[in-house]
Amino acid sequence: MSQESLRVPQRQVGADDPVPGVKNVILVMSGKGGVGKSTVATNLALALKALGLKVGLLDADIYGPSIPTMLGISGQPMSDGKRIQPLERFGVKLMSIGFLLEDPKSAVVWRGPMLHGALLQFLKDVDWGDLDFLLLDLPPGTGDVALTLSQRVRSNGAVIVTTPQEVALQDVYKSVSMNQKVGIPIIGVVENESYFVCGNCNERHELFGSGGGQKIADFAGAPLLGQIPLFPEIRKWGDAGVPVVEAAPGSPPAEAFTAVARRLIESLNAAAQASVLNIDRSGGQNRHLPITR
Ligand SMILES: Nc1ncnc2c1ncn2[C@@H]1O[C@H](COP(=O)(O)OP(=O)(O)OP(=O)(O)O)[C@@H](O)[C@H]1O
Ligand SMILES: [Mg+2]
Ligand SMILES: [Zn+2]
Repeated sequence: MSQESLRVPQRQVGADDPVPGVKNVILVMSGKGGVGKSTVATNLALALKALGLKVGLLDADIYGPSIPTMLGISGQPMSDGKRIQPLERFGVKLMSIGFLLEDPKSAVVWRGPMLHGALLQFLKDVDWGDLDFLLLDLPPGTGDVALTLSQRVRSNGAVIVTTPQEVALQDVYKSVSMNQKVGIPIIGVVENESYFVCGNCNERHELFGSGGGQKIADFAGAPLLGQIPLFPEIRKWGDAGVPVVEAAPGSPPAEAFTAVARRLIESLNAAAQASVLNIDRSGGQNRHLPITR
C-alpha cells in the first residue's frame, strides 16, 4: 500500500464532542445477530493497530458483551474518581460492560435508559486519550443504540457486517435504511463467512450463496470493503481469547481482515476528499452543523 493511503482520516469534531481526542469513530453493526460483528470489530481493531495506528474498542453490546471473551480479558477498570481507565490488551484500549459485571455469566437486567446512559458514560467518562480509531461493536437489532450514539457523537459512520445468504440480507437492508434515516453514513460493507476453502479439494465452497455483501453495498451506495472467508481458525482463536490477527499474523484469515482495514482507511480518505471537492457555498454556515440529525 502507498504511504498516501495510510494517511489517517479525521472526522468532524464538535465543541461538545465526548471523545475529542479520537480522530475516527466507527460503528460496527448489522441488523442481524450472529453474523460476526464482534469478530470483525475485534480483528479490525487489531489489524489497524498492526498498521501502526492507535486504536480503542468499545463493546457497545450491553446485553451480550463478547469483547472480554474474544480478547481473553477480565477485571475491573480503575478510576481516579473522575475518569475510568480503559483496560488494554494487545496494545488496544478496551471498555466493556462485561468488565463491570461481577459474574460474567450473569445477564444484565438494567432497562434501556440505564443501559444507554452507561454507554454514553463509556464514551465520555473513559479516558480514551488520543486515538486514531475508536471502534464500537454494536448489538444486533433495530438500532436504538446506534440512534442514541448518533445523537451524542459525530461518528464517521457505520461499517455494516452481513453474511451472504438471503435470509440475513432482509434484516441488514433494514439497518442500512435506519442509518440513512438518522443520518449515519454507511462507510462500507463487510461480507463475513463468504466462502470456505476446502481442505480436500482446495476449492471455494460458497456455503451461504454469493453476492449478498455486494447487494447490500449497492443498496447502501457504499463500497464492499472485503469478504472474510469461513475459517475454523477464526472461531477457534476467538474462543481462545486471542483474535486470529494477533495469533496468526500473515495467515489467510488475518490477511483478509488486514485488507479490510486498509480499504476502510482508503474509503474514509476518499470520502473526505470528495467532501472537500464539494464546494461550500454557504459562506461558512455549514461548517458548524449541530449534531441533531
Ligand atoms: N469468518 C468466520 N469464520 C469462522 N467463524 C466465524 C467467522 N466469523 C464469525 N465466526 C464465529 O461465529 C460466531 C459468532 O460471531 P460473533 O460473535 O462475532 O457474531 P456477532 O454478530 O457479534 O453476534 P451477536 O449478534 O450475538 O453480537 C463466533 O463463534 C465467531 O467465532
Ligand atoms: Mg456481537
Ligand atoms: Zn471440497
